[in-house]
Amino acid sequence: MEIIKSIHDMQSKMMQWKQSGKSIGFVPTMGYLHEGHQQLMKKARQENDIVVTSIFVNPLQFGPDEDYERYPRDEVHDTDIAKKEQVDILFYPHVNEMYPKDQTIRMTVHQRVDVLCGKSRPGHFDGVVTILAKLFNIVYPDYVYLGLKDAQQVAVVDALIQDYNFPIKLRPIATVREQDGLAKSSRNVNLSDQERIEAPYIYQALLHGQKLMQAGEQDAEVIIKEVSHFIHTHTHGKIDYVDLLSYPELERVNHINEQVILAVAVYFKHARLIDNVVLDQQ
Ligand code: PAJ
Repeated sequence: MEIIKSIHDMQSKMMQWKQSGKSIGFVPTMGYLHEGHQQLMKKARQENDIVVTSIFVNPLQFGPDEDYERYPRDEVHDTDIAKKEQVDILFYPHVNEMYPKDQTIRMTVHQRVDVLCGKSRPGHFDGVVTILAKLFNIVYPDYVYLGLKDAQQVAVVDALIQDYNFPIKLRPIATVREQDGLAKSSRNVNLSDQERIEAPYIYQALLHGQKLMQAGEQDAEVIIKEVSHFIHTHTHGKIDYVDLLSYPELERVNHINEQVILAVAVYFKHARLIDNVVLDQQ
């Protein structure tokens, strides 16, 4: 595995692969790699000649009061994981390499972001599309692998690829979970022991909502209320949102008769956890 830190080196390397007709699979990450990330790398490995992973904690997607400084980082561990997953190139740029100066042009997402994390984290997805547009122009991927744990991110990147004609296919990958159902996340290390015990109830709440829908409940409000109640009863977390929307458009649904997402975000003391299930009710 080669570790590359400069944009210029990366572009010349990738251009060579591209011109020799190799397929390039790309897994963008912010590091502190876990089995969720590894699943994306495994899939990329199966489907491509060349696998590129990037590790970059992108300041642009963190709000002023968010955890940019506290976001966990571990270069040695991450390098080992990437090697283990047979990544060919690890792109590991410094923040000054990616943002040498304030960007002259700003990207603004204006659909699919007035709900869920986009609503509670204003500007977050502007930062995500900015860094991904830059990375796509550095890595030249054919396929990009993203986790459905961040389902709104998948919906927004799907729009980025379409709106800006990136010649890239999006590969969404199912959420990888701990044995007790908690979605794997780099932020789980910030949970206290008691919070770690309570956190799996977030997924239990989603399954409860899913069961209601499968049993024929079609009223979104009823499901939202039930899921919120379940989380309140089983955790001390503070609910940021529980919502049920069409997917991937992320529009409000009154009666559920299409593909929908049931999504939640819960604040614990030092971690905000998100999770969702996507259901096809057609
Ligand atoms: P990060 O949070 O590091 O996640 C990198 C990728 O791993 C994302 O596509 C995310 O959805 C996926 N992922 C995380 N946990 C997962 C899990 N439990 N199961 C399956 N996939 C999981 O998402 C980002 O970084 C950034 O926003 C990024 C896209 C890199 C842009 O900065």
